[in-house]
Amino acid sequence: MAMATKTILIFALVTFTTVTLQCNGFSFCDMTEDGLMSCKPAVTEPNPWDPTADCCQALSGANLTCLCSYKSSPLLPSIGIDPNLTAGLPAKCNIPAPANC
Ligand SMILES: *[C@@H]1O[C@H](CO)[C@@H](O)[C@H](O)[C@H]1NC(C)=O
Ligand SMILES: *[C@@H]1O[C@H](CO)[C@@H](O)[C@H](O)[C@H]1NC(C)=O
Repeated sequence: MAMATKTILIFALVTFTTVTLQCNGFSFCDMTEDGLMSCKPAVTEPNPWDPTADCCQALSGANLTCLCSYKSSPLLPSIGIDPNLTAGLPAKCNIPAPANC
């Protein structure tokens, strides 16, 4: 794919995601928008942070089965989220992850 096309595609995805995230009542796998945003620095390369208490709290109420199903999705890397870091997040919060995650 041409670089320009790719850039436009990524831009469109980010825009789409941002718009989606700004919708009232948005939730992603039972995580609220605020919860998701508090986790974003922990799953973004380079130099991911350790998850904050806010993030872990949001994660404890999240549907981890649903989150894990995004692990192989191309959506997460396209918005700057590392799926591997996402998969490792529950462990960092001492939350048991589904066995197949
Ligand atoms: C969690 O997500 C999975 C996959 O999207 C779904 O099948 C399941 O019903 C959800 N569980 C709860 C408790 O919402
Ligand atoms: C994620 O983990 C898989 C399997 O361990 C590895 O092949 C892949 O390169 C990793 N991806 C990133 C972005 O680190």
